[in-house]
Amino acid sequence: MTKQTYLTGITTTGTPHLGNFVGAIRPAIEASRVAENDSYYFLADYHALINAQDPASVRQSRQEIAATWLAMGLDTEKSTFYRQSDIPEIPELTWVLTCMTAKGLMNRAHAYKGVVQENIDAGSQDPDKGITMGLFNYPILMSADILMFKATKVPVGKDQVQHLEMCRDIAQRFNHHYKPLLVVPEVVVDKDAALITGLDGRKMSKSYKNTIPLFGTSKQLRKLIMKIKTNSLEPGEPKDPEGNTVFEIYQAFASQSQVQALREDYANGISWGDAKQQLYELLESQLAEPREKYNELMAKPEEVEAVLQAGAAKARVHSKELMRQVREAVGLSNL
Ligand code: TRP
Repeated sequence: MTKQTYLTGITTTGTPHLGNFVGAIRPAIEASRVAENDSYYFLADYHALINAQDPASVRQSRQEIAATWLAMGLDTEKSTFYRQSDIPEIPELTWVLTCMTAKGLMNRAHAYKGVVQENIDAGSQDPDKGITMGLFNYPILMSADILMFKATKVPVGKDQVQHLEMCRDIAQRFNHHYKPLLVVPEVVVDKDAALITGLDGRKMSKSYKNTIPLFGTSKQLRKLIMKIKTNSLEPGEPKDPEGNTVFEIYQAFASQSQVQALREDYANGISWGDAKQQLYELLESQLAEPREKYNELMAKPEEVEAVLQAGAAKARVHSKELMRQVREAVGLSNL
């Protein structure tokens, strides 16, 4: 098997929740332990500025997300863990790529088109109302993130697949026009990545405000679990685990035998209160230890900062070299 370079970014908005953990953080940490691959994980904090323009919450979210990855056991020796905004070559490469990107390609980006459509539906005079160039150029910045480190595999959610296609297009155009310096990456959409539902039964997502934070206190965790929406079946009545939020979240954390046991409890008419209590106990048993670590890290931002700085230094060995080659290829090297 040829060595692969995995790379993925985490936009630093909001507080990490169970859905982020199961869908992105856990698989990435597992992959980071596979010795033969290289992996790059970074906080996409320039991307965060597109949606979050309150400095205090941008700051807070970066710290929380960094502490979460570390508390969950990311191996920062084996992988390279850094902040996008600590790599000045990324905005440099973004500009060069911007000059290789057809505006028409960006016009087709779902994220941009979605907002235009909302404006049209709302009867606005200006279809571009509230749209910044940050949003419009988002896929180019993302392409620079990926191409900078010659990523071969980019694990992302389904909503990011189009951005990966754009990245491939942009890389190919650069390679064709200048010289083949950029590695054309492949997208990896993990179909098995557990997607979990939130408190209200919709997909757990910060935009729906239905999340369970990963590292609330144990009391908050229990309280939120008790709030998960269920149906009105009484204790003693058999319950269907399919499509049931409590069961689904349980399944995302439990072993097969634990899942089987809960499945039987459902068939035997477990009460919702008891099912929720089981879910709480399972989560608490897995989260208590990393939560402690997380709280320690949150209390010592300088420790997290040091890890990120070391990660940036490691990453910049590569980004400086690629940028040197890119400058030379486009005619911007020293006379
Ligand atoms: N846009 C991605 C998201 O919101 C985050 C991201 C930024 C990213 N740069 C990236 C993901 C590069 C993969 C590769 O999910």
